[in-house]
Amino acid sequence: MICSLQNIPSVVLKSNPKLCKLVLDSSDVKGKGIEYYLALPGWNPIYNSESVDGERWRKLLSIFRKLVHKIDYSERLTQITEKNCQKICNESENIDSMAIQKLTVRVFFELLFRKEITVEDEKLFIDATNEWRRHVAQKGESDFSMKERMVERILHHLHESQFDIEGLQNEFKADKFELVSSFMQPFLISPIINFSDIFCELSLLLKQNQKYQDKLIKLIDEKSDESTIGLHVAMLYEALRLKHPFPILERDLTKDITDGKIVLKKGTHVYVEFDGFTQNQKFQPENWLNADYYKENSWFLFATGPRMCAGRLIALNALEVILKELIRIKQGNFEKLKMWENHKVSGRTNDQAASIKELLFQVKMIFKVFKEILMKRLRN
Ligand code: HEM
Repeated sequence: MICSLQNIPSVVLKSNPKLCKLVLDSSDVKGKGIEYYLALPGWNPIYNSESVDGERWRKLLSIFRKLVHKIDYSERLTQITEKNCQKICNESENIDSMAIQKLTVRVFFELLFRKEITVEDEKLFIDATNEWRRHVAQKGESDFSMKERMVERILHHLHESQFDIEGLQNEFKADKFELVSSFMQPFLISPIINFSDIFCELSLLLKQNQKYQDKLIKLIDEKSDESTIGLHVAMLYEALRLKHPFPILERDLTKDITDGKIVLKKGTHVYVEFDGFTQNQKFQPENWLNADYYKENSWFLFATGPRMCAGRLIALNALEVILKELIRIKQGNFEKLKMWENHKVSGRTNDQAASIKELLFQVKMIFKVFKEILMKRLRN
């Protein structure tokens, strides 16, 4: 609908992995679809490097890469994550979604700022993230003042940190919000959302597939072989495949593409719909241990092509350590690992039914978008 109003040809792909992969490999443009008109305004006052295009995308991605280089994650992340897993388990008898959010913000804050987060900042960052989450997932208006308070706290920590803020601003000609977004969005807000989504879904899948809980219990004392994907990572991949935290990916085609049967023309806006993608619905993590299967299907995990997840190695490192450590510390007692409990909205179809208030918000947003597009067309 959004595309047809703008006279942009569009297509929805919810099967045909080969064509989806070609789309993602061929273009670095997100375009003006659902993400642009509905999700991006929800990110205000900051920017999401996953959603913007052009000059701003290149700038945010370059700053992100520079930060990754500065934080020495390969030397520090495992130890920081293990320490914080132990801490959260000491504090919480049962690990629910709230505990996963706390753990995630503690790990990534310490990774960035080389100090532990305070109780006050932890609460503010989680609450503010849930404001962003609600608005981006079109579940309701967000509390703008709370978001602004998180921005101010991040700026405060940046000025006290090892990062050369002025140098970064000058090098990339970045304004205050571009700079702060490069720290907040990929390292704090998105991980809090994605990690809690993934652990919510994985713990539900394990509850429904008890034999995999037993397999994980058997692995508690085993040393892992770091040269291959282990069962823990395979289970995380399988949770991503079946219940991905991103409901859709979007691209504007910058050239014609074909899988040999279907031709998609340059200029077409493509929605790759993960929610409801036609695929095997059984939980079969072992498939990921097969190199050919991985090669064929890995595009589904962190996307592929020029816009694929730039933080996937960091994300995977932290996710794997969290999964192993929580099971080890809780001695394989999955009754204490109900990570779906107290889980907030994710924007996926598996959320509970929308309330009237949410529906009204969505209707309001759609009218706003229609008006914006029509005004643009009248002006041109
Ligand atoms: C389990 C957690 C994560 C998942 C499932 C995930 C998934 C993704 C996906 C699918 C995309 C591409 C979106 C698209 O093609 O439309 C993406 C982009 C991105 N991700 Fe992740 N991600 C995760 C965690 C992280 C973390 C922890 C970081 C940073 C440390 C990160 C940094 C980024 C960045 C910077 C981009 C934008 C790349 C670009 O547009 O050029 N991600 N992520």
